[in-house]
Amino acid sequence: MALESGLLLLILSILFVGARTQPSQFGEIPLGSQLSPISETRSWLSPSGHFAFGFFSQGNGFAVGIWMVGQPNNTVVWTANRDEEPVSFGATIHLSEEGKLFLRTEQGNENLIANVSEVADSASMLDSGNLVLYNGSSVIWQSFDHPTDTILVGQNLTFNDKLVSSVSSSNHSSGRFLLPMQRDGNLVAYPKKSACLSVDAYWASNTYQYDKKVLSLYLNNQGSLLMDTVSTKPVLLARSSYYCNNKTTIFRATLDADGIFRLYSHCLENKTSWIVHIEWSALNDQCNVLGFCDFNSYCTGKGTNADCSCYPGFAFNDPSERFSGCYKNVTESFCTGATDEGEMYDVITMENISFERYSYSVLDTKKENCGLSCLEDCLCDVALYINEKCEKYTAPIRYGKRDINASSTAFFKVQTTPAAPPMGQTVITESKKSLIVFLAIAFGAVTFLCFVIAISTFCVYRDRTFLYEKLSGIISLAGDFTLRSFSYSELEKATGGFGEELGRGSIGAVYKGTIPGGDRIVAVKRLEKVLDEGEKKFRAEITVIGQTYHRNLVRLLGFCVENSRRLLSRGHLAPEWQNNASVSVKADIYSFGVVLLEIICCRSSVEVDVSAPDEMNLSSWAYQCFASGQLDKLVKDEDVEFESLERMVKIGLLCVQHDPALRPLIKNVILMVEGSKDIPTPPSIAPFIISA
Ligand SMILES: *[C@@H]1O[C@H](CO)[C@@H](O)[C@H](O)[C@H]1NC(C)=O
Ligand SMILES: *[C@@H]1O[C@H](CO)[C@@H](O)[C@H](O)[C@H]1NC(C)=O
Ligand SMILES: *[C@@H]1O[C@H](CO)[C@@H](O)[C@H](O)[C@H]1NC(C)=O
Ligand SMILES: *[C@@H]1O[C@H](CO)[C@@H](O)[C@H](O)[C@H]1NC(C)=O
Ligand SMILES: *[C@@H]1O[C@H](CO)[C@@H](O)[C@H](O)[C@H]1NC(C)=O
Ligand SMILES: *[C@@H]1O[C@H](CO)[C@@H](O)[C@H](O)[C@H]1NC(C)=O
Ligand SMILES: *[C@@H]1O[C@H](CO)[C@@H](O)[C@H](O)[C@H]1NC(C)=O
Ligand SMILES: *[C@@H]1O[C@H](CO)[C@@H](O)[C@H](O)[C@H]1NC(C)=O
Ligand SMILES: *[C@@H]1O[C@H](CO)[C@@H](O)[C@H](O)[C@H]1NC(C)=O
Ligand SMILES: *[C@@H]1O[C@H](CO)[C@@H](O)[C@H](O)[C@H]1NC(C)=O
Repeated sequence: MALESGLLLLILSILFVGARTQPSQFGEIPLGSQLSPISETRSWLSPSGHFAFGFFSQGNGFAVGIWMVGQPNNTVVWTANRDEEPVSFGATIHLSEEGKLFLRTEQGNENLIANVSEVADSASMLDSGNLVLYNGSSVIWQSFDHPTDTILVGQNLTFNDKLVSSVSSSNHSSGRFLLPMQRDGNLVAYPKKSACLSVDAYWASNTYQYDKKVLSLYLNNQGSLLMDTVSTKPVLLARSSYYCNNKTTIFRATLDADGIFRLYSHCLENKTSWIVHIEWSALNDQCNVLGFCDFNSYCTGKGTNADCSCYPGFAFNDPSERFSGCYKNVTESFCTGATDEGEMYDVITMENISFERYSYSVLDTKKENCGLSCLEDCLCDVALYINEKCEKYTAPIRYGKRDINASSTAFFKVQTTPAAPPMGQTVITESKKSLIVFLAIAFGAVTFLCFVIAISTFCVYRDRTFLYEKLSGIISLAGDFTLRSFSYSELEKATGGFGEELGRGSIGAVYKGTIPGGDRIVAVKRLEKVLDEGEKKFRAEITVIGQTYHRNLVRLLGFCVENSRRLLSRGHLAPEWQNNASVSVKADIYSFGVVLLEIICCRSSVEVDVSAPDEMNLSSWAYQCFASGQLDKLVKDEDVEFESLERMVKIGLLCVQHDPALRPLIKNVILMVEGSKDIPTPPSIAPFIISA
């Protein structure tokens, strides 16, 4: 009995709230209103009834946002705190008497929807789809200033704003693609899992604004997508052409979950039903969206009808989400030297494949030898024969697609078990051969890759978007050089008597210099360990390394052989250098870690002039700050993205472990930096012992 009357009371009170809180005919929402997903008032409507703000279903619960009301489906145009978990039916939205707009979860937590310190004296859900809070006549907050994946008529995307696609049409959390309005005036689309460099861009408006005046992207009420420039006329990006028979039309531009930026018109058929048209698409071919198929997979299909497949030797990370990329489905004993006699490697060929082409090695060889060369090279996962050259690559490989216009042949190295190879593909079997030369290249390449990754990581973490413009300039600088032999005195002069040491690798120090006769800045490496190979071998190696080029590697310009001096390709040294333990590739990982921490903290690895003795050694101090949760002590700049800072510090700390076995492989470091591998919590680093 008591329960029943309690329920009745609840229902009555919900009805009462519902009656009290409908917006007025001007869309004004009275202070003291509230919404609940289980009451009649799940949302506040705009005066036309075409837009609503409130709870919508997501997953097993509810999210908060703004949508276009209608059949066949509501179209969500804005989501509040989109990356929070959906809430349950016990949650409520409040526009409190005090003028705060917030969500109260069932557990009683209050999350601000309008995150402003000022309080509102009124609020409205407008017919444009904009939810606005006012103090008097001034706007203190509006949803239009916080776009998610869509802009509507009257909304501006100005520099530093960006659209981020949704996960899917039914999950409005942040998805896989970004469309930032860059400071250079260019609107550019990138996969989120990238450094947002020019090589990662798959669409751009090409509206540069060299004088850096304020620019904005907007939609006018005729459905034209325009870029507003201060000095010149607006630039037209796209126009709507659908004739809607003089009926109510709503336009929107959305970065869809598939990564394609589209302009839509919604034409009102009758009271509740809309006809939706795609007026314009930035791209017509889904496979041209870089990163649509994640690492180690490739895109096939035409138009918007695309699918992802794994390369031979790889398997889906998540077979239910085919775009989620693939992992290498082999045990890798080949490179570690622990070769099992029973293991065999084959090459599977595929034609018309294209992917991001930054090979670690390019060989001038016949097509027949290309696969074989990959088979013999421990680092090689795939070789691509294209333009009569054989290019070799190490996984992960990204931005892959099948392209009938790509006259390429790819050779994938796969591990064979006694099982039969996949049907319908050509298989070439060859035995493995000696790898010494290739390992030598690999060693050098990995070292330099480390340093460059450290620098690019820093840049990404500082300012992702601004780089687009700068990098496009640098890439075009690559010049063509033939190998040149230098004399010792020439190099001595070039480096100013080996004055400025840049760093130290496993076999010698690197000095900064300038080549005589040109203004090209070079790095000169002086080999300090006696190499026991003969001179012939040294020259052979140089020739091979000279043929190697990679955008992340320093290009070999020349060399010097004179008596015992061989020149090429402290603080950063791994502890094993000091205690005469065996020195491995892992020593370079240590150096990478130190450089990474130095870049993050903007200081040198050992500094005497510090406020506390604990701070003298950077790696142990960084560990202390990490362990005590005080990473902010490491950076002077307060305007850092904390999540990235923590990730980078963790990677740095993993690399500077005293025990080489605890340091990650460079491959894993790359995956961690890219965000495709979880970063384990670094083990502790003992305070540095300064030996006498
Ligand atoms: C939406 O997608 C995100 C990211 O993939 C996921 O973490 C979240 O659980 C999804 N939410 C729902 C309701 O499915
Ligand atoms: C409407 O929503 C349903 C369920 O989420 C979905 O299956 C359907 O494709 C949607 N229709 C349109 C036109 O978006
Ligand atoms: C509100 O904004 C402040 C400053 O911009 C930010 O530090 C804070 O995390 C935000 N709070 C929420 C709940 O988003
Ligand atoms: C509204 O703005 C005025 C002028 O800026 C300010 O004095 C007043 O405190 C504000 N009211 C509220 C409720 O924040
Ligand atoms: C967008 O920009 C135009 C022109 O600068 C301005 O009139 C309008 O108020 C802006 N809209 C919003 C929502 O800020
Ligand atoms: C469109 O509608 C408006 C007002 O509803 C009317 O004045 C105008 O004549 C109509 N135009 C056409 C082409 O029907
Ligand atoms: C509105 O239009 C749709 C599609 O044309 C139709 O299915 C529906 O019955 C119409 N509704 C009304 C109330 O006319
Ligand atoms: C991965 O490799 C294992 C053993 O080599 C094999 O049993 C399994 O079927 C492979 N998975 C795929 C998806 O190829
Ligand atoms: C291949 O090239 C032709 C001619 O340049 C072009 O029309 C076609 O769209 C291209 N196909 C693809 C898949 O890129
Ligand atoms: C790529 O595909 C086209 C047409 O499908 C074919 O003619 C061509 O030989 C292929 N190119 C290579 C290098 O395999």
